[in-house]
Amino acid sequence: ASQGIQTHPDHILVTSGSQQALALVSQILLEPGDVVLVENPTYNLALDLFRALELKIVGVPIDEHGMQVELLEPLLQQLHPRLIYTIPNFQNPSGASMSGTRRRQLIALADRYNIPILEDDFAGDLRYDGRAQPAIKALDPGGRVIYTGTFSKMLMPGLRVGFLVTEGPVLRRLVEFKRVTDLTTSTLMQRTLDVYVTVGRYQAHLRRSGRLYRQRRDAMLAAIRRYLPSGIHTDPPQGGLFIWLRLPENLSALGLLPLTAEEGVEYAPGARFFANPTDGESFLRLNFATQTPEDIETGIRRLGIAIERLILKNRG
Ligand SMILES: Cc1ncc(COP(=O)(O)O)c(C=O)c1O
Repeated sequence: ASQGIQTHPDHILVTSGSQQALALVSQILLEPGDVVLVENPTYNLALDLFRALELKIVGVPIDEHGMQVELLEPLLQQLHPRLIYTIPNFQNPSGASMSGTRRRQLIALADRYNIPILEDDFAGDLRYDGRAQPAIKALDPGGRVIYTGTFSKMLMPGLRVGFLVTEGPVLRRLVEFKRVTDLTTSTLMQRTLDVYVTVGRYQAHLRRSGRLYRQRRDAMLAAIRRYLPSGIHTDPPQGGLFIWLRLPENLSALGLLPLTAEEGVEYAPGARFFANPTDGESFLRLNFATQTPEDIETGIRRLGIAIERLILKNRG
């Protein structure tokens, strides 16, 4: 409901995290060799899932407003994809959010070419500023969008409780396939969530985490401006967990790893988020949600030292 979706409890399938939702949807809709369109970069474990199912993964470039939907039509005409996978809010890894205009264009194109959309809203309730856009599912009168959400980022990943929203024959197939996969998502966990997480408590928790994470995001952005060399690019995210950095062209995020390890800091190298890993060489993903502002400042200062060392090393 927080994302503008009006649905009925019968159209919600509780899953063991949204990772299971992604797996169930891909397994019932797709065959080996089918083309799936994804944002480039995208969530690494979605890529690994699609690879495990032997799908052909085709990446659509993104910018600070999410998937560049205006590049889609020729791909739809030439490649006949069987699914479009998108993370429209605070995308993992880029932090980008898809504009309202692009959401509308995407649903119109998917309608025209009759392609289902898998909308992964893993952190949509973690907004710190800017205006929320309606979920793509909320713009879809025809039941083309399969929406998935999770309590992993808003509450805790160990719960392993997520959900799907969809209708019609697809929902029936998902319910049947889930039953033979795991019978049910832990009813103990579902009952616990039901008892302890009232709407009011959930909203209060979101407000608290929102305040905390906003401070941490701002601390990281300030430290980036202060400690990292110029030539590093980032687009500040309006929510979520991640800041995405692009190093100046000749620097490799993989080459940087041993140097940051020596400085005692960690990041996710960009290669793992791209359909073609070499496209991600100059990117790194930072998580601002898990550390205090003080630790963030120390971490970014050390990252800056490691980058300076890499620059010197490259100069030889
Ligand atoms: C974009 C995205 N989708 C889905 C998931 C899976 O989350 P879970 O299975 O914990 O709900 C994650 C986890 O990091 C994610 O980043």
